[in-house]
Amino acid sequence: MTTLIVLGAGGDLASRLLLPGLADLLVSHHGEELDLRLVGADRDEHDQGWWTERVRTAAESAGASGPSVDRLVATTRYARTDVAADGDLARLLADAAASDVGPDAGSRSAPARGGGDVVCYFALPPSVTAAACRALDPEQVPAGTRLVLEKPFGHDSASAAELNAVLTRLVPEENVHRVDHFLGKSTVLNILGLRFANRLFEPLWSAAHVERVDVVFDEDLGLAGRAGYYDGAGALADMVQSHLLQLLALIAMDPPATISARDLRDRKAEVLRATRLWDEDDPASCTRRARWTAGRLGGQDVGAYADEPGVDPSRETDTLAEVVLAVDTWRWAGVPFRLRSGKALGRRRKEAVVTFRHVPHLPTGLLGTSSPTRLRIGFGPDDITLELDVNGQDDAFSLERSSLRTELSPGELTAYGQVLLGVLHDDPTLSVRGDTAEHCWRVLEPVVQAWRSGRVPLETYPAGSGGPPGRGLLEDVDAQGCADGAPAPAPGPEASGPGRQDEDPPVS
Ligand code: BG6
Repeated sequence: MTTLIVLGAGGDLASRLLLPGLADLLVSHHGEELDLRLVGADRDEHDQGWWTERVRTAAESAGASGPSVDRLVATTRYARTDVAADGDLARLLADAAASDVGPDAGSRSAPARGGGDVVCYFALPPSVTAAACRALDPEQVPAGTRLVLEKPFGHDSASAAELNAVLTRLVPEENVHRVDHFLGKSTVLNILGLRFANRLFEPLWSAAHVERVDVVFDEDLGLAGRAGYYDGAGALADMVQSHLLQLLALIAMDPPATISARDLRDRKAEVLRATRLWDEDDPASCTRRARWTAGRLGGQDVGAYADEPGVDPSRETDTLAEVVLAVDTWRWAGVPFRLRSGKALGRRRKEAVVTFRHVPHLPTGLLGTSSPTRLRIGFGPDDITLELDVNGQDDAFSLERSSLRTELSPGELTAYGQVLLGVLHDDPTLSVRGDTAEHCWRVLEPVVQAWRSGRVPLETYPAGSGGPPGRGLLEDVDAQGCADGAPAPAPGPEASGPGRQDEDPPVS
């Protein structure tokens, strides 16, 4: 029996993502293996009926029903717990362990494994989570307990390291699950299959053949009532530092021998250790930050970010961030990795684009425009597209663009369902390892410093537009496919650096 404690049971994360993900998991084919009890905990006084109803509603929102969900709803219980109050959390952990492993459960030597595991999910603001963990003594954490934390893990590399030290004082690193739900998305996991189960890509997956890699996550959503969190984070911390760097790691890492937690996370850590800002001396040339102003989004008037309730305009929070990174390895030296994410944009665009170098010699006599081969991995819609030049339909000697596209199945589980499966199975493969969490901050620290000191101006863009005016760092690859006149590649890092957009000469 595993007891899953959800701290922050009354919060948005629990009701919108976590509980629906859990219900989704229970009705999947994995559900049968799970012997699970759910405990909701929060600092407010609620009766049991309130909590039961919350669990039932969340399951309904996921379209999950059946005996496993009925059992969850019937057996779950609510325990009022203030994690900031002395001893409250320790008591809850001891109770959870004791119901399955007997009265010794509160002691660190108690044989929790085999009896009943405790999984403690902190669906709480990061500062509250960190304070609660700091307040715990190791002997108050039953053996085998898994601690599950949401991003952000700290606010820079030093605070992430400090938090890691707090956590690993309580439980071993393998029992710390730092959730990045992108790692549970089936399309993201598909990067592994695509790259390592096909002979086609791996020989070409290096600076010798790849011109640049773009990872874009443009959203057409605004704040969705999350000012309290977002205004202190911004696009760089909310998306780039976490999700997009994880995507970069999966795209850039060397092939692992297995997809076990050890091998996969070693490979990701290796590549993130080698990742840095493209030009640390000149952040203005390789980063961009912007904030939305009033505009029209989805047919509706939208006010400026600065006027949103709960926003402090003087913070200059970025709602769009672009950075260009370098990966200093033999495989990737000189290849720009361009990452961008923004909110309230007119067009949703969620994809990674690998742009290959031009052919070394195009046979004389082929007409039309030669454009680089591109591989697009879509994260919503979930698809893969390979863009190729082929001989034209009308004139067989004139090149035309053609796309091979396949839609991917959304997977049986939602991202949160997938992440929870790993946590409940005691498998940290999809969790962010402590060292990696620190490196993700380290990579972006020069950006944070440059932005804070005003060395990179805060630009603006109207809500519903394509982003700030002027040339963005990713302008030469648009979402529609390969733009004509895409940059002609030239060897070496300088020529392939950010922002170059030389004209592509038509071939004749
Ligand atoms: C979250 C961010 O982690 O991911 C949000 O905090 C963002 O700001 C979201 O909108 C995007 O993920 P998804 O799965 O909703 O596309």
